[in-house]
Amino acid sequence: MPGSIGVKKINIAVFLSGTGSNFKNLIKHSKKKKSKFKISLAISDKSKARGLHYAYKYKINKKTVNYLNIKNSEKNILTELKKNKIDIICLAGFMKILSNNFIKKFKGKIINIHPSLLPKYKGLNTHQRAINNNEKFAGCTVHHVNSKLDSGKIILQKKVKILKTDTSSKLAKRVLKQEHILYPKALKKILSTL
Ligand code: GRF
Repeated sequence: MPGSIGVKKINIAVFLSGTGSNFKNLIKHSKKKKSKFKISLAISDKSKARGLHYAYKYKINKKTVNYLNIKNSEKNILTELKKNKIDIICLAGFMKILSNNFIKKFKGKIINIHPSLLPKYKGLNTHQRAINNNEKFAGCTVHHVNSKLDSGKIILQKKVKILKTDTSSKLAKRVLKQEHILYPKALKKILSTL
């Protein structure tokens, strides 16, 4: 194929536990002509995660890890990452916390998307908490992953106005739309520094 010779793409692994809309969206972006990355692996702690369907659909290697024992599970994940020559890990709705030891092994190479304007509303139920506190804005953040939950250095953020009529699920839908714009942008930013 003309133009594709000698262009080495960055190998990405996406970790997910649920719907996988961010996973699907990253796959879509990876298929663009000028994309510098390739999604080579999906990791999930749930064999029934709906998002894994996209791994089948787009013929992406996938591995489910049961997490009965964190140490063994992370060891299995590391083996897969090595096998697939993964450069960067994108967490996208992955509901397990990675150990310090694991993070150290991929230092500076793990990023996450979180549905709030960090440092506000770390953890779960972000939208409901923002509504309850009468915040004017909700939003999403892509950040580096460090040993503390949702606390690594921020890469990019996008605000979303909270409407008077908002419920947590209405707001979540609008935020998710922005996530799908923000995550590829943040990834591009990271890749430009490699
Ligand atoms: C997103 O809201 C993301 O910010 C959060 O988990 C959700 C995952 O959604 N970390 P999806 O599985 O990518 O649709």
